[in-house]
Formats: sequence, structure tokens, C-alpha cells
Amino acid sequence: MASTLPCTPGAESTTMSQLRFAYWVPNVSGGLVVSKIPQRTHWGIDYNVELARTAEEVGFDYALTQIRFIGSYGAESQHESTTFSAALLGATKKLRVITAILPGPWHPAVVAKIGATADHLFNSRWSVNIVSGWFQGEQEAMGLGWPDHEARYRRSREFIDILKGIWTTDHFSYDGEFYKINDFTLNPKPLSKPHPEIFQGGNSSAAQRNAGAVSDWYFMNGNSLDGLKEQITKVRALAAENGRTVKFAVNAFVIARSSEQEARQELARIVGAADKEAVEAFGTAVKQAGQSSPDGKGMWQDSKFEDLVQYNDGFRTNLIGTPQQIAERILTLKSLGIDLVLTGFLHFQEELKAFGEEVIPLVRALENGQKIAA
Ligand SMILES: Cc1cc2nc3c(=O)[nH]c(=O)nc-3n(C[C@H](O)[C@H](O)[C@H](O)COP(=O)(O)O)c2cc1C
Repeated sequence: MASTLPCTPGAESTTMSQLRFAYWVPNVSGGLVVSKIPQRTHWGIDYNVELARTAEEVGFDYALTQIRFIGSYGAESQHESTTFSAALLGATKKLRVITAILPGPWHPAVVAKIGATADHLFNSRWSVNIVSGWFQGEQEAMGLGWPDHEARYRRSREFIDILKGIWTTDHFSYDGEFYKINDFTLNPKPLSKPHPEIFQGGNSSAAQRNAGAVSDWYFMNGNSLDGLKEQITKVRALAAENGRTVKFAVNAFVIARSSEQEARQELARIVGAADKEAVEAFGTAVKQAGQSSPDGKGMWQDSKFEDLVQYNDGFRTNLIGTPQQIAERILTLKSLGIDLVLTGFLHFQEELKAFGEEVIPLVRALENGQKIAA
């Protein structure tokens, strides 16, 4: 099954200058909103295989899995991300699957090995999202410690250094604060050169420093245009200090309806049916997780109740309206420097398909300088 496909991300389906699209894999129950609104989204494998096949057919480049080990905040059941990613990769042909990995439970040499094998098995379509973690209860339930915010990011930095080192160098050694690697040689190395893509995100300065220093992609929570502009400017400058460039991805919860009013009403229904207790508990957990960052600028620090109904502030990006309005907003995101839009939906299967059939073609037309009907 190994091949020498071009290692350029998305090369088979998207050209370099085109915006890429990803979707959140619903491998966790409850969908992407902490709301009791009825959702036709399911976290099981059959639903997800159909969704992944639809996604690649209608123009999505990437799928992003979630990592959560225990039930919490409206997400009572979860499938594990590496196993689930492999199942989706095995069921698709073009889609790239980004596996979420949490340093702490995972060791970087183990992930380097899994990544190299997945890269060979699935034609270089595997990549990784290193998440630094917000869920203290989860790590404590596993008997792991809960390093403070800055330490979690130092650990993620070491984790990424080691992934890259093992993927590219024979006899790799590393003497870090969290990990020691002694003369480790991985064989076979990944086919992707220099290595599988590394995504990493967060709003704190620590997340931005890591992005500037080592990540291929910087993932942002949903945000206003001004907020996104500020983050992009900072991370670009940090990357430049390291002689690097970084690509940018932003989360957005999409509500596309035939009129803007209908889309807004749907948002109001989602927020109106919010699982108040779960949203508030989630808000407390994520705010506490970011509090020990020196500048207090972590993700969710200024999120309001409504924002938190979508785990990653996805309403804030405002992809809510008609397909035309959404396509135009996506082009504005692109003009700010966004390379990839990460989407979530209420009813994934139907809405992801409609997004691919109705919104992506409008985005492509706008990218080609064509006018679209209002
Ligand atoms: C796109 C994206 C995906 C994420 N996926 C997960 C995940 O699957 N599991 C998880 O525990 N945290 C996830 N996180 C959250 C991170 O673990 C971390 O808590 C957050 O980025 C901390 O942000 P801060 O730097 O603003 O404090 C994700 C964050 C982003 C931006």
C-alpha cells in the first residue's frame, strides 16, 4: 500500500493557493455543541465512515479527531483517536486524518512509531494535532500529574521536538525536562518528507511560542476577525524569529440556511437549549486550565456563556447565514492569512454534504475572482 504520493498536504484535491477545509470528527458523543437540541449526529464508526467518505467526495481535505479519555460536559462516550483515525483512513482514499494526541498519557516515541506506520499504510494521509490539555480531571483519573499551564506547553514543545527528531534522524537522543531518548532509531521512517504534518493550537502566548518554534500548523479557536488578525500577526513574527513560516487554521461552527434569519434562529435554538450545568462546568474547567498562564490569555478566558456552548468558540467566527454570506466570510478569513477552515455542524452528515456542495464551490469561484449571486 505504500506509495510515493506528493508530500504536499492536500495536493491531490486542492492546489497550494486554495483554502483547505477540515471537519471535526464526531468521535465523541453529544456532537459539537453542549446543547440538548436534537442532533442527527452520531459518534459511532458506521456514521463516521459514511461521513468521511462524503467529506472526501464533496471537497474536504482533512478530518480532525478529538482526544478525550473520560466522559464529561455533555460528551459521555468517546472513541480513542489513533484507532479511530486508522479506521477512517482505511475507509477513505484522499482524506487526510489529523489524529489528536495528548502528551501525558502518550509518549512521543510511541506516537512517532504509530505515525510512521500510519504514514506507510495510508499513503501519507496521517498527521497529528498535539493538544496541551485543559482537562485536569481526565489526567488525574489516569493517575497522571497535572503540570501547570506553562509546564504543559514545555512538555508539548519537547514532545514535538522528539517527534521530529525520531522521524528524521537515526540514533536520536534527547535530554529534556520531561523526556529522555537514548540513541533511538526508527525504521522505517515516514514516507512524508520531512515528516507527517504537525498541528498544534491554543490562544496563550505559550501555544503561540510553540507554533512559531516547531508547529507546521497553528490551530485557533473561533474568534472575531480582529482577534484572528492579532493572533496571526504574533505567530508570524514568532515564526520569523525562528526563520520559519507557519500555516493557520481556524475553528468555525457552520450554520448555513436559506436565509440569514433562519440561520440566526437556529443558533438561538442551539443556545436556548444549552445544557446549562454542563456549559458552566466546562467553562469553569477550561478557565481554570488557562489561569496559570502568565498573561491569562489562554483559550476561553474571555468566552461568554453563548461562546462556550460550542466547545471551541466556533460561533465567534460567524459562519452563520446563507451559503453566499458564508463563502464571502471565508474569503475574508483567507485574506487575513487563514489557510484552513475547520468546520463543525449540528447535523453533521446532511450539513457537511450541503457545505461541500453549496459553499465550497462558491469559495472556489470567489478564489478565481468570479462574482457570486447575493
Ligand atoms: C483545534 C483544536 C482542537 C483541540 N482538540 C482537543 C482535543 O481533542 N482534546 C483536548 O483535550 N483538547 C483539545 N484542544 C484544546 C487544547 O488541549 C488546549 O487545552 C488548548 O489549546 C489550550 O489553550 P491555551 O493555550 O489557550 O491555554 C484543542 C484545541 C484546538 C484549538
